[in-house]
Amino acid sequence: MARETWGSRVGFVAAAIGSAVGLGNIWMFPWRAGKYGGAAFLIPYLILLFAVGVIALTVEWTLGRGTKGGPIVAFQKAGLPGGKYLGLLANITIFMIFAFYSLVLGWILRYFIASLTGELLRINPGAFFDGLAFSKEAMIWQFVVIMLTVAIVALGVQKGIEKANKIMMPALFVLLIILAIRSVTLPNSYEGLKFYLLPDISKALNAETWMIALSQMFFSLSVLGNTMVVYGSYLKENDDIPLSAIATAFGDTAVAVTAGFLIFPAVFAFGLEPGAGPGLVFVTLPMVFQKMSGGAFFGFLFFLLLLFAGLSSTVSMLEVYVDSAITNLKMERKKAAILLGLLTFAIGAPAALSPYYFEKVLINISTIYVGPIGALIAALALIKFGVERAYEEIKKGALIEMPSLWKPWIKYVYPIVIVVIYISQFVLGG
Ligand code: PHE
Ligand code: NA
Repeated sequence: MARETWGSRVGFVAAAIGSAVGLGNIWMFPWRAGKYGGAAFLIPYLILLFAVGVIALTVEWTLGRGTKGGPIVAFQKAGLPGGKYLGLLANITIFMIFAFYSLVLGWILRYFIASLTGELLRINPGAFFDGLAFSKEAMIWQFVVIMLTVAIVALGVQKGIEKANKIMMPALFVLLIILAIRSVTLPNSYEGLKFYLLPDISKALNAETWMIALSQMFFSLSVLGNTMVVYGSYLKENDDIPLSAIATAFGDTAVAVTAGFLIFPAVFAFGLEPGAGPGLVFVTLPMVFQKMSGGAFFGFLFFLLLLFAGLSSTVSMLEVYVDSAITNLKMERKKAAILLGLLTFAIGAPAALSPYYFEKVLINISTIYVGPIGALIAALALIKFGVERAYEEIKKGALIEMPSLWKPWIKYVYPIVIVVIYISQFVLGG
């Protein structure tokens, strides 16, 4: 059977932005920007976005289209020694990411339901979150999230993934803008803007800030040698890669920056402290909705926004290993989606009972220890594929010209940058 393809350029870009825009944008980015220099954090972030982020997307998409396969096929066809096993590793990484991400998205689904029933305004957010986060109940929501993802992936590339993204992405942008406007027009929003934006140039010049910006960017753009390789493999010869990479990188960043305008002014307007990590979304913001007029409605919009951001990312995760099962095990798509969804649940569900397993095993192994290696393997695979050949490949269908500087850049600069981030995260202690 012929490999599936995207139905349109717009559909592909929607799916790519859908994969990129996720929980990483809505609470990780604003928090990190606030902590690492405010508006000044954008200086390293934007420089790196151009020098590394856009390049990373072009590398993975070119490799995917050039080999017409996901990581297992792509690394093998590129001629990388042990390509099959390295491809398998890239599959396992994304499998582990989905296993923990689905738990967090399950919490979001639970809050979304609470916003529908009006419960959100009556709960004590701290106690509610403590009771939910690591519980048998959370497992149920996690299961529902996985099955929603399975349902979309089972429908295929065009009828499932592309269509879902074409609905969710425009909705996401509208929701985000409504919420950001609501937040910055609250009385006293100024304090939050100050916290978020007040530039601290000294932090922007700090090496640690650059490292944080880089690892944040890799996760945020979904470039770990799996998802974007698969999404690239569904591109047609006359589809554009370079401009789509710029659009995706900017779309992802725009959402991340805007999310800060949504969160901080609202938090400070009600005299709350912006806690780091999960607390921000699951405890602090519900408190904000309880105090804000129209909070029930805006809380509902906010959790819907998170649900769309998360689901459009989880479909891109599951698609990686569903495609591997279709291609390498000759499985039928629906069957593969269901079986692998259940397998993800089997490995992910224990996270709902063990914060240690959730954080130290699933999150750390997949995002810190192995994830960046996937990006490096994809880069090495493309080099092995042949830089000249890759350059011919990326030019096909391109809507803008790719400077020939791209060739030495992907061969020397890009892989070295990945190695440097990888090592530095251990030196700096994450
Ligand atoms: N980019 C997504 C986010 O920011 C996460 C993700 C990582 C999705 C890797 C797919 C692959 O939330
Ligand atoms: Na992202």
